[in-house]
Amino acid sequence: MRVLAFAASLRAGSLNRKLISLAVDIARAEGVEVDLSAFRDFDMPLYDGDMDARAGLPSGAAELEHRLRRTDAVMISAPEYNYSISGVLKNAIDWVSRARPMPWRGKSLYLMSASPSPMGGIRGLWQTRIPLEGCGALVFPDMFALPHADEAFDGAGRLRDPALAERLRRDVVGFVRLAEAVVPICGGAISALAQKKQEEIASALEDESQLQPPA
Ligand SMILES: Cc1cc2nc3c(=O)[nH]c(=O)nc-3n(C[C@H](O)[C@H](O)[C@H](O)COP(=O)(O)O)c2cc1C
Repeated sequence: MRVLAFAASLRAGSLNRKLISLAVDIARAEGVEVDLSAFRDFDMPLYDGDMDARAGLPSGAAELEHRLRRTDAVMISAPEYNYSISGVLKNAIDWVSRARPMPWRGKSLYLMSASPSPMGGIRGLWQTRIPLEGCGALVFPDMFALPHADEAFDGAGRLRDPALAERLRRDVVGFVRLAEAVVPICGGAISALAQKKQEEIASALEDESQLQPPA
């Protein structure tokens, strides 16, 4: 199984990048091939419907779409901004959701967050589930929020608290096993008939959510 992993932060000293690295190590130890990407590779402008109509996905969004298509599952460590999903991650989800067939559909997805706050970013993760599940991703029920993340890592980047480290290991292994079981059913190449059906559903959903009047 191939997994795309990234921290949804552009900051050089990102705590979420430290956390995703730990999850990647655990997944690799379970035999998973992981593409650990830098969020900077997906640099993209704010979603603009005119730009979309004119030229389709900008290069950073197309890169994310391309990497998603090459993977069976995704792990994201995402900061909480103002009790919710960060703007940069939501923007990336929105751009990529314009591609067809929907790149998020059928991807198993594990969510993590690291924050210096005592909540660890869990409120943001609940908000992050919504657009991803709306796009058809299979978001793992357990999410890992790391509180006091500014003090949680030792000099080698490991979690100081062995109980938290064990919980992360258990969660990631559980995610990997479930994702492996799901790939043959929801992932991989789909038949022409299923593809046609998927496109019909996507187009019906699009009509439903067409809130703006035609230009
Ligand atoms: C605009 C903004 C809003 C934030 N809001 C929250 C918040 O609601 N909850 C929280 O736990 N941390 C919040 N933080 C702090 C981030 O969790 C912290 O900056 C974290 O380190 C960001 O992740 P990173 O280290 O991966 O860049 C906020 C930070 C910024 C810049």
